[in-house]
This record gives sequence, structure tokens and C-alpha cells, in this order.
Amino acid sequence: MRVEEIAEKALRIVKPNKLEEKRFGRIVDEALKAARELAENAPGVVDVTLEGSAAKNTWVRGRAEADIFIHFDPETSREELEKRIVELGTELIEELGGEPMLMYADHPYVEGIIDGVTIDVVACYRVEPRKWIGATDRTPYHTRYVIEKLGPGQVDEVRLLKGFMIGCGVYGAEIKVRGFSGYLTELLTIRYGSFLDTIRAAASWKPPIVIDLEGYYESVEDVLELFRDSPLIVIDPVDRSRNVAAAVSHRRLSEFILASKLFLKRPSLRFFRRVPGRPRASNILKLAKNRNILYVYFRLRERKPRDVIWGELKRSEEGIAKALERLRFKVYRREAWTDEDKRCLLVFELDKLNLPSYMLHQGPPIHLRNAEDFLEKWIGRGIGPWVDDGRFYVLRKIGETSAIKLLAKEIHGGRVSISRDLASYFGKALIDSDLRRLFKRAGRDVKLLEFLQEFLKAKPPFL
Ligand code: UTP
Ligand code: MN
Ligand code: MN
Repeated sequence: MRVEEIAEKALRIVKPNKLEEKRFGRIVDEALKAARELAENAPGVVDVTLEGSAAKNTWVRGRAEADIFIHFDPETSREELEKRIVELGTELIEELGGEPMLMYADHPYVEGIIDGVTIDVVACYRVEPRKWIGATDRTPYHTRYVIEKLGPGQVDEVRLLKGFMIGCGVYGAEIKVRGFSGYLTELLTIRYGSFLDTIRAAASWKPPIVIDLEGYYESVEDVLELFRDSPLIVIDPVDRSRNVAAAVSHRRLSEFILASKLFLKRPSLRFFRRVPGRPRASNILKLAKNRNILYVYFRLRERKPRDVIWGELKRSEEGIAKALERLRFKVYRREAWTDEDKRCLLVFELDKLNLPSYMLHQGPPIHLRNAEDFLEKWIGRGIGPWVDDGRFYVLRKIGETSAIKLLAKEIHGGRVSISRDLASYFGKALIDSDLRRLFKRAGRDVKLLEFLQEFLKAKPPFL
């Protein structure tokens, strides 16, 4: 099939139908009305608005979500605002019959699910452009900009782009993904006009990429100088000092470019559907066979906000990888996972699970003065030393060879840089390589199996 036909068919996956749209509108209106009533007499509150994809009509089917923004007077202190938004958000979600969950981006907000629609209750300051106090203050300006620039036919183009990115695993700016935000997909659509034209452009991207819609900068060089380490730089039309794509990792950007190329070459609805194909524990054990998988598993005593736990896990994953490399294991790949409730897992694929019993240790050339010290130190303590090509060598006996035991020792000794808030959990974690023991401890629910299957398959979902 041609790309155009596929895009048309994909619309049925990403675009809500009339009925879904109506239901969504009703729930959002109700939530907005309740929020306005609640906030009416709250100190410091100056406005309540609908923002994000619900306001721009760019939300994707199956991901019904609305962002309700409570605007505060800039006189309000940060502390006060945070306290009030948690109170108001909790009250609102409860009133609507949902269960409030405290969330955290770089500031707290409250989330709840009402009749299948996720409601985010977020605070911002009512300020003029460039007088930003908090990270969310630009959002109302983003909404206005997109509504103004996006033609009526283009909202579906945004939906296609989001759907494609969801299917390919690159959508979402949160720490878990480090991919493309909703606002970024809208700006890309404004820049290139349509879903297909965005994909066509992306297929020939060679990072770093610079997009400056409002032409704030004279030259690309100026932009590159300013945003040096970003592979994708999209200047925010409402704030020239900000890169909208700052969260996009090099990996996710490359995956998007690759997916765009492959989609154009062989168009398929597969790119819009993320079907892991019913993972089974037995299949996962088969995939893991003869490979060197090490994992660390533990349960939290209580749930943490999504972005907090993902951040802590990613940092710990990096610390453990460094420790393993220090212990002379090569870390091929690594990934973190959590059910966003209590269960947390880090997985590492290594070159080996055991060091050799003896390791070669190179000594100095025999003509050097310290050669005799070497001899004194090693004689009787290893195999050798012998002389080869003018230098000493010994085979040093390795006392502990197991990656699992060595890592556990490093962790207990406090020599691994893991997130401080998780340290007590790592001390008691299950560190192992046998996935059967993981299933025994953690259960076999679909989400965990899906994650393990994707990790073991070791390729992006669209391949
Ligand atoms: P969303 O992440 O909900 O994105 O943030 P979106 O554009 O609505 O896209 P989808 O369809 O839901 O995926 C909405 C706006 O609110 C701001 C974001 O910057 C974005 O502009 N926001 C939201 C925050 O800044 N902080 C938050 O905690 C939540
Ligand atoms: Mn949203
Ligand atoms: Mn949101």
C-alpha cells in the first residue's frame, strides 16, 4: 500500500470517533466546571483553563487526557502554590469520583481517572511572557500559539504523528521515555505541514537539527553554540531561550529517524500499533537462554510519584553499570522498569556472569629497577611470574568471580552510586541471573513480561 493510504487507515487508530469525542467533551466540561467552582474563592487563584491536547483537539484515541490549569497570582509563594494545587487537585478529583494520585514533574500536580479520562490538575503563575516563574507558566501561551498556527485539517496530522511516535516507542518527554512531547509534535506539524511531510523530512535528518519557527536567530551556528549538546533543537516560539526538544535523547531521536525511513520504504500500520504479542514466561526463559542477564529487583514500601521513581531508577541503573564495568564485566545493554506502583527492576546484559579464575597481570620490563619489587610481591602468590618479550607476567587468582556476588558486595559496601532514596532497598534487593526466581518473587503479570520480552528481543518495537 502507498503511504497515503496507510496514513488514511491509521487515522482510524488515532482519531477518536464522534461518540468518544462527545463523551470526552462532556467529562472535560464537567471537570472544568467543578474546578472553577472549587477555585473560585481559593486565595491566590486568578483563573482556571483547559490546556494541552484537550484544548487543541490533538488528543489521541485511547489516550483521553485533559490538562486543567489553575492560574495563580505571581505574588503567591512557591510553597503556597504547591500546597494549594495539591489540596485543590485532590478535592477536585475526589469530587468527580476519582482517586487522586500525587504526581511530580519539576513541581507537584494531581492526576485522576474519571470515566476513562485522565485529568491532570496543574498549577501555573499568571505572568507576562519572559517573566516566567515556574516551568508550567509557558503552557497557556503554547496552547494559544498552536491554536493560532494549526489549521483545522492539521489537528489530525498531529494525531497521526503522535500515533506513529507512540507505536514506535518515542512519544513522551517524561524521564521514562526521553522522547517527543505533545507540544513538540505540534510544532513539527506546523513546520512541515502534515504527518507525511514531517516523516519525509525526518527521514533525511542528520543531527544536530535546528528548527526556529519564528526566526529568532540570525544563523544556525548561533543556535548550535547556545544549545551545544542537544541533537534536536526546536526554539520555543514563546520563549527564544528554550529548546522544546531538550528532553529528547539521542537514542529516541535516532529511533524516530530510522522508523521514518523504514516507514517510507515499507509503509505499514505496524508502525502505529504496539503489539508485544502476548508474552509468556516460558518464551522469555527461552529468549534468555545462554545469555548473561543480571537483574536487581525490589519492592518499594510505598508508591512514589512517577517521575521521581523513574529518575531514581535511571540514576541507579547508571551507577550499577559503572560498578559492573569497574569489576571488569562488559555491560552490553541495560534498562530500568517499574510498574509505577511498588515493583522496581533493573536488568543488565553482560559479556559474562563470571570472571575467569585467573587473570593476566602485566608487570614491568625486567630491566627496570622496580622489577625486583614486582617479583617479591608476586612470587608464591599467583601463577608465575614468567618473562615474555622482556617483561614480567603473572596469573593472578581471583577470589570471587561471580558478578552477582561481586555486585552485592559493592552495593553493601556503599561503593555503588545509587540514588540515595533507594539505598535501603538496594541493600535488600534480589540480585540474581535466574529469571525463574524473579517470576517467583515478582509474579508474572503482563507488564513485567512485556518489558522482559522487549529487553531480550533487544530491538525497537517497529523493527
Ligand atoms: P501533556 O504532557 O499532557 O501533553 O502536557 P499534551 O500536549 O497535552 O499531549 P498529550 O496528548 O496529553 O500527550 C500538557 C501541557 O502541560 C504542561 C506541558 O508542558 C504541556 O505544555 N505540563 C503538564 C507541565 O508543564 N507540567 C506538568 O506536570 C504537566
Ligand atoms: Mn495532555
Ligand atoms: Mn498532562
